[in-house]
Amino acid sequence: MTHDSVTAPGERTTVGPVLISARPYANYLTQFALTDADLLAGPVLDCPGGASDFAAEVRARGGQAVSVDPSYGLEAAELTAAIDAGRERVSTWTRTQPDRYSFDENGVWEHAPVWEATARRFLDDLARDRAEGTGHYRDALLPELPFADDSFALAVSGFLLFTYADQFDNAFHLAAVRELLRVAAEVRLHPLSDSSGVPYPDLDTLLGILSAEGVTARVLVVPGTSDPRENRTLVLTRG
Ligand SMILES: C[S@@+](CC[C@H](N)C(=O)[O-])C[C@H]1O[C@@H](n2cnc3c(N)ncnc32)[C@H](O)[C@@H]1O
Repeated sequence: MTHDSVTAPGERTTVGPVLISARPYANYLTQFALTDADLLAGPVLDCPGGASDFAAEVRARGGQAVSVDPSYGLEAAELTAAIDAGRERVSTWTRTQPDRYSFDENGVWEHAPVWEATARRFLDDLARDRAEGTGHYRDALLPELPFADDSFALAVSGFLLFTYADQFDNAFHLAAVRELLRVAAEVRLHPLSDSSGVPYPDLDTLLGILSAEGVTARVLVVPGTSDPRENRTLVLTRG
């Protein structure tokens, strides 16, 4: 998809179909308002993990973390190509919205080299996991996760729910959140807007249904990571 061929400069558009992004561990700490210590308190789920090194970095610090993503069913070469294609697509798309994103002196989106390096760390860790059979990367799809109730102290879910509101309906969002809350005592979601910056329109309805089911919700204001304006994180806990 070539967004810049159909988009006037400055026009807000969404990034298009779901891509496999590679936000680094440091972005996760910021966007989910977490510290290293928080992540050592109990098992952590990253869903969707994409090509992030988050879980590998939690494990490197002595924690327990598992990543879930449907892309983990792909062979290494196919997965690498999909990650590269996603990064190129989002880089091209950012150039259509220069008021939202920053670029280096060569016009390269500032996060492109970071995502590339993060994806390399992820792919190395995935290869090691596959060779050793440690099961840190699970090929699965929301809204059905292959874990028992209460398997995790915390689940983090970034840049799938709300981000792709044009591709997933309200029923999917509700089922996915319920599933994350089934397997984890606390769930953190970020951001709460789609990729064009439009806040998820049915958030209040979603939270009303969850509240009736005993779920407590808090919205944190956090520094944005890829887009400085995407600064809200939802924290959900079961009653
Ligand atoms: C934009 S990436 C986010 C990855 C990571 N959280 C990050 O911030 O870099 C979205 C990911 O969602 C995955 N995905 C798509 N549909 C999914 C589903 N139904 N359940 C879980 N993950 C899904 C995609 O494969 C993709 O890797």
